[in-house]
Amino acid sequence: MTGNGRAGAPYRLPTRRVSLAQRNGVFRGHQSMVENLFAAAYRCLVEPDPDRKVGLAGALASAWCAGGLAVERGVALPDVAEAGRPERPLLVDARGLFKRGTGTPEGRAALVHAVAHIEFNAINLACDAVYRFRDLPEAFFGDWIRVAGEEARHFGLLRDRLRELGHDYGDFPAHRGLWDMAQRTAGDVLARMALVPRVLEARGLDVTPGIMERLRRAGDDRTADILVVILREEIGHVAAGTRWFRTICRERGLEPEAEYFRLLDQFLRGELRCPLHLEARREAGFSEAELMRLQAMCDDG
Ligand SMILES: [Fe+2]
Ligand SMILES: [Fe+2]
Repeated sequence: MTGNGRAGAPYRLPTRRVSLAQRNGVFRGHQSMVENLFAAAYRCLVEPDPDRKVGLAGALASAWCAGGLAVERGVALPDVAEAGRPERPLLVDARGLFKRGTGTPEGRAALVHAVAHIEFNAINLACDAVYRFRDLPEAFFGDWIRVAGEEARHFGLLRDRLRELGHDYGDFPAHRGLWDMAQRTAGDVLARMALVPRVLEARGLDVTPGIMERLRRAGDDRTADILVVILREEIGHVAAGTRWFRTICRERGLEPEAEYFRLLDQFLRGELRCPLHLEARREAGFSEAELMRLQAMCDDG
């Protein structure tokens, strides 16, 4: 694989610095100077090769930080129904997946593969948020570009670990739940923020400490240590989702808590997965009222 996804080898920052005038689109016609943000997000989103996708996500994050991308909302770009992914892993119904016990090396490899698959999809979800919801403020793009870069690094760390365990991404079947939710929430950024960061990524906060504990008990501190890094950054992703969910609610004159639970009802029909990692969710911006109501749903279920 390329160096972009390797542990301890972060993306190279571009040496070229771009002025604020260029960032603001003064040199829009100069394709070689400033690329359109949405064209760059598109390339990453549709890229099927994992190594190249990781490289593009890292380059996107670096270019944004260096002011090397112009926000040109009016440029015509194709619709994306399917994000780019490699031929393998084979996508199956979640019920058909191999049970991921941590007691055997094969079980641990399957577990690392499952988390790597989530991270691969998370790169696509972050790029899709930027690409699809183009009328949002620049700070929104900045948040999800940063997330795309972090997801790419998470995927790279897990893919390297998978190789250490004698496997690679694509060796086990996987599910398509994450991208399904991207498609279901494609019509509304508010639903996207509620259901992707504030449900699916928040679920990751709930389950990761238990997985780390099982791994440590099985003597796999190396994978557990990677998950410590991932969990820390995932709290930031859920926090970004919370911030934008509340901002958009405010703009639309909606009460955020009522709207969140209305969307949970609409998309999940009350099927909440428990238990909750309350402390991590609190850190990620969930209010006490939200947590109490979610906990009550768990207790009732
Ligand atoms: Fe991640
Ligand atoms: Fe994430």
